[in-house]
Amino acid sequence: MEKNKVNIDQNETVIHVDDVSKSFGDLHVLRNVDVRLYKGENLVVLGRSGTGKSVLIKLISGLLSPDTGNVRVLGETVNELDDRELRALRQRIGFSFQNSALYDSMTVRENLEFPLVRNKRNLTRAEIDKEVEEVLEGVGLSQAINQMPSELSGGQRKRIGIARTLILRPDIMLYDEPTAGLDPITCLDINSLINEVQERYNTSSIIITHDLACAKMVGDRMVMLLDGKFERQGTFQEIFDTEDKRVKPFYDYNFIV
Ligand SMILES: Nc1ncnc2c1ncn2[C@@H]1O[C@H](COP(=O)(O)OP(=O)(O)OP(=O)(O)O)[C@@H](O)[C@H]1O
Ligand SMILES: [Mg+2]
Repeated sequence: MEKNKVNIDQNETVIHVDDVSKSFGDLHVLRNVDVRLYKGENLVVLGRSGTGKSVLIKLISGLLSPDTGNVRVLGETVNELDDRELRALRQRIGFSFQNSALYDSMTVRENLEFPLVRNKRNLTRAEIDKEVEEVLEGVGLSQAINQMPSELSGGQRKRIGIARTLILRPDIMLYDEPTAGLDPITCLDINSLINEVQERYNTSSIIITHDLACAKMVGDRMVMLLDGKFERQGTFQEIFDTEDKRVKPFYDYNFIV
């Protein structure tokens, strides 16, 4: 179930978390963390609950600032941007959160139009329709265009959530636990979609997950947060070829060996 190799340009870094530390009071969550995301790459971030994976995403999107170090995204130092610059940068980043909140009172079509109309004000009706239809087709849900979110399954809602993000053609996608709470077949579907997004749009993505099958299927490279640092980095085999008691249970639990 390992993924196909894709073209990754290691000369182009789209995210560089550079020697970043972040504490909340006495809680030292990230300690001099250094990690890069290369252009076109799917990077999986593993780590126990509460180790700071979501904090990492919040630092990348400028929702939090590092105590020390720099976060560089698409050539910009996030912690030095003013509000307007930060908004412009965020438009180039797509987020897929655990409960991809769709607007329940809007149809799928209206949900997808919403970010387009808000962010690209000069599109014609025909252009909007075309974008919506194209992105829906991309996530395999063309037939759901006039449905309400309440009529969709959890996996379908997740797909629509991803489509809504993709409609702005982000350079970077950040997926926070994309398969949490989904059945195995839907998980496979979402994992395939993550790979399709990478191949179709040449997006660079960070995927946070506890699901090692997902990690294996979507990750070109993996990093594991342990005690505030990315001590383990590499391929699936490289990460798990260890007797480290902080690492082995992830594997044992996922594959029930
Ligand atoms: N804004 C904040 N203020 C105070 N503490 C915070 C804040 N954000 C996160 N934390 C703390 O930082 C730690 C890491 O949180 P984070 O949400 O990054 O964990 P996580 O690795 O994403 O966990 P999970 O796998 O459960 O989602 C937690 O102890 C959390 O309580
Ligand atoms: Mg989290």
